Amino acid sequence: MSKRPIEPFRIKVTEPISLIEPKEREKRIAEAGYNIFQLAAKDIFIDLLTDSGTGALSQNQMAALMTGDESYAGGRNWYHFEETIKDIFQKKHVLPCHQGRVAENIFFSIVLKQGDYVPNNTHFDTTRANVMHKGGIPVDFPCKQLKEEGSEFPFKGNIDCEKLEEFIGKTGVSKIPLIVLTSTNNSAGGLPVSMANIAELRSLCDKYGIMLVYDAARFAENAYFIKKHEPGYENSSVKEIAHKMNGYADAVLMSAKKDGLSNMGGFMAVNDEALAGKLKELLIIIEGFPTYGGLNGRDLESVAIGLKESLNDDYLTHRIGQISWLGDLLRQAGLPIIYPTGGHAVFIDAGKLLPHIKPEFFPGQSLVVELYRQGGVRGVEIGSLMFGGVDPNTGQKLTALKELVRLAIPRRMYTASHLEYVAEVAAEIVKDKEKLKGYEILDSPTYLRHFTCTMREVAGSPVKLASS
Ligand code: F0G
Repeated sequence: MSKRPIEPFRIKVTEPISLIEPKEREKRIAEAGYNIFQLAAKDIFIDLLTDSGTGALSQNQMAALMTGDESYAGGRNWYHFEETIKDIFQKKHVLPCHQGRVAENIFFSIVLKQGDYVPNNTHFDTTRANVMHKGGIPVDFPCKQLKEEGSEFPFKGNIDCEKLEEFIGKTGVSKIPLIVLTSTNNSAGGLPVSMANIAELRSLCDKYGIMLVYDAARFAENAYFIKKHEPGYENSSVKEIAHKMNGYADAVLMSAKKDGLSNMGGFMAVNDEALAGKLKELLIIIEGFPTYGGLNGRDLESVAIGLKESLNDDYLTHRIGQISWLGDLLRQAGLPIIYPTGGHAVFIDAGKLLPHIKPEFFPGQSLVVELYRQGGVRGVEIGSLMFGGVDPNTGQKLTALKELVRLAIPRRMYTASHLEYVAEVAAEIVKDKEKLKGYEILDSPTYLRHFTCTMREVAGSPVKLASS
């Protein structure tokens, strides 16, 4: 049987895309200050910037949009949304919001004090920025297998509980109100966390009386990996696995733009009634009444249906199959990637591919720009541009774990031939990779600089060999 992922759907509605001329692409990227966030989407052929809010809705979701109840309070879609989340995430209180970062903002505003530490397997950019914005200090504890070359350990998204316990011992529990577990681990390859690891983290949290918060943006993809790779779960349904995973957490924060299979949406879900009350107060100030939380009634319905569809076996087999297939094509073309591949994206190791560009000249950004130049493909840098710079609270220099380029695949959107095309573009770049140049930042904001900074290509001497 072919490894080609066959789409478990047929296409009922189309959206045209086109590849503009190379000269036009060169002009557009220069005008954008070599920042792909500043490009107009119409100038992109295959958009792998993110899997967040970019997927296709199903026919059931489209049909349900017409059933949106836009009442200010107590609309019917809210009850479906609430009931679905209570069931899948096993929590007593559900608070809707319009996307994940608002859930982070509201939650951290309530639970963090100045100088608190927030451990995580690896913070994603908005989570890190929201922790820092509330005066907290984000600390990452990725597992050691993530750095082991050649390791095919399937759960490289795990949190390192041993290192974490040492840290708790050194810091003291009073400075650690919560621990966040991100699964799959977006900043570190989109790789999953095992059930055993979640259980171990739960015991650690119980031992020290620390709240366990689950970033559930990609919970269904994580559950699928547990079914496929963790002994003892092969005969469980993905939903049963999700129940068990989610049940370990005291609180869940979710961007429903990922495994909610929706274009907008998010929520907080907690068991503690007093905490829910405080979150609700702030929610009303920031987002809206607690039965819509910044969302349309039709969005609430889309999320309720999407959360259920994301647990479907055929859907997940295709989704995870697409990522591993693109990963295999890129490896065959000579690109080093984080392997095994994870749940929502292929992560190319640009640091390894372009050793002649030092991290301070952003090898990942160089590859991102070249993918656009060569083929109108948009990926995103996840390296020193996204995670480097200076901590605005402490003034300390920040460093990225690796120099990566993420090619995130929107859900139910692109076909196998689109992905084959992306691999062909990347293969062309590999042939002439020594010619790629580095970039330097011209201007930059304090937080999340990669979204809005402008850059220029650094020609000549600053682009030295790593050994020089
Ligand atoms: N948590 C994780 C793990 C995420 O990946 C994201 C967003 C968020 C929280 C914030 O959610 O966008 O709804 O506010 N990640 C997107 C990405 C943007 O491209 O990976 P949001």
